[in-house]
Amino acid sequence: MITLPWRTLHASARPTGPRRAALATLLGGLALAVGMACPAHAQAGDEVPFITTPDNVTLAMLELAKVGAQDTLIDLGSGDGRIVITAARRFGARGLGVEIVPDLVLRSRENAVRAGVADRAEFREQDLFKTDLSPYSVITMYLLPEVNLQLRPLVLRLRPGTRVVSHDWDMGEWLPDRTVTLDVPDKAVGRDKLSRVHLWVVPAAVEGLWCGPGGAQLRLERRFQVVQGRAGGARDLALAHGRVEGSDLHLSGPGGELRARLVEGGGKPVLRVLNSSGTWQAWREVTFQQGSGEVCKI
Ligand SMILES: C[S@@+](CC[C@H](N)C(=O)[O-])C[C@H]1O[C@@H](n2cnc3c(N)ncnc32)[C@H](O)[C@@H]1O
Repeated sequence: MITLPWRTLHASARPTGPRRAALATLLGGLALAVGMACPAHAQAGDEVPFITTPDNVTLAMLELAKVGAQDTLIDLGSGDGRIVITAARRFGARGLGVEIVPDLVLRSRENAVRAGVADRAEFREQDLFKTDLSPYSVITMYLLPEVNLQLRPLVLRLRPGTRVVSHDWDMGEWLPDRTVTLDVPDKAVGRDKLSRVHLWVVPAAVEGLWCGPGGAQLRLERRFQVVQGRAGGARDLALAHGRVEGSDLHLSGPGGELRARLVEGGGKPVLRVLNSSGTWQAWREVTFQQGSGEVCKI
């Protein structure tokens, strides 16, 4: 089912300036890509259209994010509420859907009552760009690439470990931690009848200099979740490559393998080594403190 409520969109939530121009291009591109004619009254620059995520894709999104009863989820642009309702009904989570089209908000509330989850699935008429994302452990979205890119800096500031799942669209240079592709024979848009579901886990800020006992040091650089740097003693630093998923760091290199976690220690972030091998074997149980400057002071 496709409904394109172009006219009913909340005027105050419409993009302006560069955002409006970008969305105009995207919507034109989307219409061409999906081979659908824009309705005569569609104004280029109107917001993201209402297109539902098919049920099997909704399930895949929630499974990919490992949603459970302990989670609080938000769907940005919640349409008829299906993602929040499924998260509550099938996975026991609590959720909020924010949506700018008032009729869709009403419909979502009715759907939640029908599904018996009105106590755990809330819907608000609200602009997603004016929504505080910090209380949520899982963020879901089916928007547009440019909108995802605008959300990216906000998402990257969220608590490490927050899971973000997007139907079809990615986040540019911030590559997903995982992607699954699903056959969707009845997909309303697109020619390939496939949906892609992307997962990102907000990475912790592990970059910088970390100093352990006896001159052990890690000097790390991070771009999104990809980490590289040097690890070892003051004079024998070995190249290390790896990733950070939430607060968990995994490095490997000629020195061996290392797993560490960024945790709070005495009110400050510290890197606690959980497991290590090779020349880093001796680092088991070692805690690294944040250093400053070029090298650790012994
Ligand atoms: C592609 S639909 C996805 C609906 C639902 N999340 C799903 O996956 O089935 C995108 C939804 O975002 C809503 N939307 C667009 N711009 C919005 C904004 N600024 N704030 C809140 N909702 C918005 C649209 O009205 C539409 O219902």
